[in-house]
Amino acid sequence: MSQKTAVCPGSFDPVTLGHVDIITRASHLFDKVFVAVMKNPVKSTSFTVEERIELLGRVISGLNITNVEVVGLDGLLVENAKKYGATAIVKGLRAVSDFEYEFQMALANKKLAPDIETVFLTTRGENMFLSSSVVKQIAYFGGDISGLVPDIIREEIKKRLIGKGVEF
Ligand code: PNS
Repeated sequence: MSQKTAVCPGSFDPVTLGHVDIITRASHLFDKVFVAVMKNPVKSTSFTVEERIELLGRVISGLNITNVEVVGLDGLLVENAKKYGATAIVKGLRAVSDFEYEFQMALANKKLAPDIETVFLTTRGENMFLSSSVVKQIAYFGGDISGLVPDIIREEIKKRLIGKGVEF
């Protein structure tokens, strides 16, 4: 049987434990998962692409998952997915509030590339409220972000965001 490859795209600004959960579960479903740090044309970010890739890379290495690779991508997601041999796009879905945007993206991507499927994994209950934006707001005001981001990058994120210009 041929190898099944997926791409797990996002801004990851920064990576949260919600992302880690989705990436880990995707790694169990597919032979190979490319975690794609993307440029979102309608969002400004607090971390550069290089920083986001570096943070994610460190987190993934610490997880001991061998079939996940972090890549930085620009341009249309489906074109990048094709380049990497991916036949699926994996996204996490939290609440109804995510649905409309994600549904629109999935339909647009389907129109552009009918052979690529979008697969939604439902978030764990405890991560329903969790987003990069929530992490940034808490870190900016010096709050406790433990349990929201991986331990190995927590201090760096705190240091990087406290009192700084943050894009929520
Ligand atoms: O974590 P995010 O910000 O919700 O991720 C959104 C992202 C980066 C996956 C999305 O903006 C994206 O796919 N950008 C690349 C451009 C593209 O292909 N858009 C879909 C067709 S309109």
